[in-house]
Amino acid sequence: MTVEQKRLVTESLTTLKPVADLLGDIFYSRLFEMDPMLKYLFPSDMNHQGEKLIAAVNQAAACFDGMETLESTMQEFGLRHAGYGVKDYHYDTAEQALLWTVRVGMGAAFTVDVRHAWVSFYGEMAAAMKRGAAKRIET
Ligand code: HEM
Repeated sequence: MTVEQKRLVTESLTTLKPVADLLGDIFYSRLFEMDPMLKYLFPSDMNHQGEKLIAAVNQAAACFDGMETLESTMQEFGLRHAGYGVKDYHYDTAEQALLWTVRVGMGAAFTVDVRHAWVSFYGEMAAAMKRGAAKRIET
């Protein structure tokens, strides 16, 4: 990610903060609409899942100044996700759902540059999570 992309993601997260609760719901509705089978990976009580996701995205963005912390945090997430039954290809579906959610949340402020910044940000998170998941298979 470029410095400018990090700035754009941080700025988007500030813009999205007041509607963060809603975004969790939008994300999961979109995700399950795209792949209804994914519902079976989650608990039936989805009440706090949205908050956890938003918190994790914020935590990742907070690591922008120390990419090594981001890498190890995301690897740990990925390892746990492999245990939940998450496969590598699920990250593509989640990417589409996340981009959709950010777009809905930001409206006209979701410019092409902001989209690219999120694609790059998500790409780094997902890649590190997959590296963490791969460790589960190796050991
Ligand atoms: C960048 C991508 C993602 C982030 C930041 C993220 C974040 C989180 C967080 C913070 C949790 C709470 C539990 C924990 O920390 O392990 C969680 C749980 C979970 N996530 Fe993700 N996640 C991502 C991608 C995905 C994908 C692609 C899937 C599959 C569609 C998925 C499915 C799940 C499931 C099934 C749980 C467990 C729910 C439970 O049993 O409580 N996540 N995720």
